[in-house]
Parts: sequence; structure tokens; C-alpha cells
Amino acid sequence: MENNLKNEKNKPIGIFDSGLGGLTAVKAIKSLLPHEDIIYFGDTGRTPYGTKSEKTIISYANQNINFLKSKNVKMIVSACGTVSSHINKLDNPELVTGVIEPSCQAAVKLTKNYKIGVIGTSATIKSGAYTNALNKICPRAKIISQDCPLLASLIENGFIDKSSEILLKTVNTYMKKFIKEKVDTLILGCTHYPIIKDVINDVLGGHVNLINSGEETAKFIKKYLKEKNMLSEKNSLGIYNFFVSDKLNDFSERAKMFLGYDIQNCTQIININEY
Ligand code: DGL
Repeated sequence: MENNLKNEKNKPIGIFDSGLGGLTAVKAIKSLLPHEDIIYFGDTGRTPYGTKSEKTIISYANQNINFLKSKNVKMIVSACGTVSSHINKLDNPELVTGVIEPSCQAAVKLTKNYKIGVIGTSATIKSGAYTNALNKICPRAKIISQDCPLLASLIENGFIDKSSEILLKTVNTYMKKFIKEKVDTLILGCTHYPIIKDVINDVLGGHVNLINSGEETAKFIKKYLKEKNMLSEKNSLGIYNFFVSDKLNDFSERAKMFLGYDIQNCTQIININEY
């Protein structure tokens, strides 16, 4: 019996996103929960999700979840704002932890003027998921949201540097509303966006609290596993395995830039349509 529980605890955490975005959660898990194993799936063959229809997003997400289930993980994390905004429509929503709640809780804790901004993909903003969650936690907050349909694709294609003119122009356009409304807190409601948080911070003038949805989700995972007595009991550092649906080299190169270490040797391509 004891051995069974130990085996359960030492199973990996399953994480998925449309591509690179969920690595923002992986990076935070590495520092918060260094002994946890991770199975990551980035749907690089079908990214971006945020411009797709609800029906397509849900069917992709169900396949991603089936894939992670086949890897015998102890929990499944949708490290994707777009999927998290549609979590109740998934086949097995009870199996999945999303990014919306943890990010909203963090934003409400930090805001002083109760003007909270949210950026996300078109599908995320259209769903109203962040606004609904924020209003529930803090009815007096004024929520200002902006969809950023170009950002995830720019990031997936490697435009992540301050020196990228096209990135700077795009971020400037999307930030206008928040500067005008004087928000003091902005939720980076798509897990891709923390990758360019320095650019966003500069454009906003350096005085807005930026909520990293990947990081907040990692904090939530730690709390959740602790409460459930499901933290890994391994003493060694966690083992990471990455899976993608296309463009392995592009993914691992960009991941290396963001994570700071090489993942090429532990990244494989799978056919997600088999799940
Ligand atoms: N990183 C994802 C999100 O948080 C997906 C972005 C996309 O593929 O459009 O929404």
C-alpha cells in the first residue's frame, strides 16, 4: 500500500500548451519543485490555438489530455490560457488544472487602484473567462481586456527580443488601452507572453505589476500537490521529457534560449492525431 502511494507521488506532472508558452510554467516548476518529473507536450504542429474556433481548440485539448494520460502522469496542467478559458467544455474537465484562477488571485492581491488589465489570445478574451473570474473574486475591480492575436505567433516564430521592431510595434499597439486607463496590474493571460515580459514592461513604463500566468500556475501546483500529499519523494533532480507535434529543432532551439539549457536530447516528435 505504502509502495503504491510512493509510486503515485513519484509519477510525472503532465503539462501542455500549443507550443512554447507552457515553458513559462516549466521554468517556474523547476525552481519551485526541483524533484518533480515533467512530461511536456507542445502542439507545435497546430499552433497558434488562440485564433482557432472553440470547437477546434476543445478537440485539440482533448487529444493533448489523452496523450498525457497515456504517459501515466499524476496531474494534468493546461499551461495554456486559451484552453484554460474553455476548461468546462473539455471531455474530462475534472482532470485538468488551468491558469486562470491562480493568475486572477495574484492580480487581486497586488492591485491598489482596482484597475486590472488582461491580455490574451482572441479566443481567451472572447470567452470572458478572466473577467468572470476576476469579478467573482473582486466585484469592485474594473477589468480592461485586450486581445493580442499576433503575439503568440510572433513569439513562436522567434520574435522575442527587445531589438525586434515588429514586436515592439505590436506590443505598443496592444498596450495603448492600458496606458490610457492607468491599470496598475496586468495579467499576461497567455502563457507565451511572459517570454516577452521585458518588452511589455518597458512599453508600460516599468510601473505596472505583470502577472506571469505560468509562474502563478506553478505556485498553485506546489500548493495543490502539498495539500494532496502528492509531492514527489525523490531526492534526485526531476527528469524532463518534451514532446512536440512538429518542428522539433525550432522548438528546442527557442526553448534553450528561454530555459537556458539544451532540451534537444529529451525532445521527441509524436503524431497527436493518434490520441
Ligand atoms: N500559450 C497559449 C495561451 O496561453 C496559446 C497561444 C496560442 O497558441 O494562440 O493561450
